[in-house]
Amino acid sequence: MILMILKSRISMRTKACIFDLDGVIVDTAKYHYLAWKKLAVMLNIQFSREDNERLKGVSRMASLDIILEIGKMTPDDRMKEEYAALKNKWYLDYIGRMTPEEILPGSLEFLSELKSAGIKTALGSASKNTPLILQRLGMESLFDAVADGNIVRNAKPDPEVFLTAAKMLGVLPENCVVFEDAIAGVESALNAGMLCIGIGSEKILANAHYVITGLDKMSLKKLREIEKVSDNEQLL
Ligand code: BG6
Ligand code: MG
Repeated sequence: MILMILKSRISMRTKACIFDLDGVIVDTAKYHYLAWKKLAVMLNIQFSREDNERLKGVSRMASLDIILEIGKMTPDDRMKEEYAALKNKWYLDYIGRMTPEEILPGSLEFLSELKSAGIKTALGSASKNTPLILQRLGMESLFDAVADGNIVRNAKPDPEVFLTAAKMLGVLPENCVVFEDAIAGVESALNAGMLCIGIGSEKILANAHYVITGLDKMSLKKLREIEKVSDNEQLL
């Protein structure tokens, strides 16, 4: 009996969906990589696409630290600020040329399905460029809340960004689903006690509750199926 009550209480539990921005909603992950690669080349550091997986979801300065660690370099803070500013300048050059075609397939459709169903939506991103990207692509009105690198102190895998988004929406963490393309982001969602759907490769995002290749593979019906399976697993 208790089990049945518990089950009916937590099934259909999603009241909010929180999306990472880069690599989930818009195709900006490639621009972060290209800009970091340019810096790595300038500093004569070998930096591969595989190394880049460690940078996804991670704040600008933490990303720089990873690259410098790969290159075994220890510049002072002033130089580090300069490198980060240079990378951001190159990144913004790419963003400045971005068009709405770079909104990833399925994003707009899924967001509008959620809106019609009364499910709240938020962004949870490490990026300080979030407002600029949303404005550039005309997407500001699609999210009920934005938690980004401008207001969050502790970078993913810390849960702060997703907990902040949930708080802004007035929804409990257990009623939130996170969509993430980064290893650090998946950890952040799990640390926040949220259901996490990975966007990308199952091999890389092995800790996510479920993995899809993109939001074009997601719908409310699919989300309900995933949450049912995950609820049942929790009850076993
Ligand atoms: C994350 C990206 O969304 O934002 C990272 O996955 C990036 O690659 C981080 O470093 C910070 O972004 P920005 O735009 O503030 O440099
Ligand atoms: Mg991302």
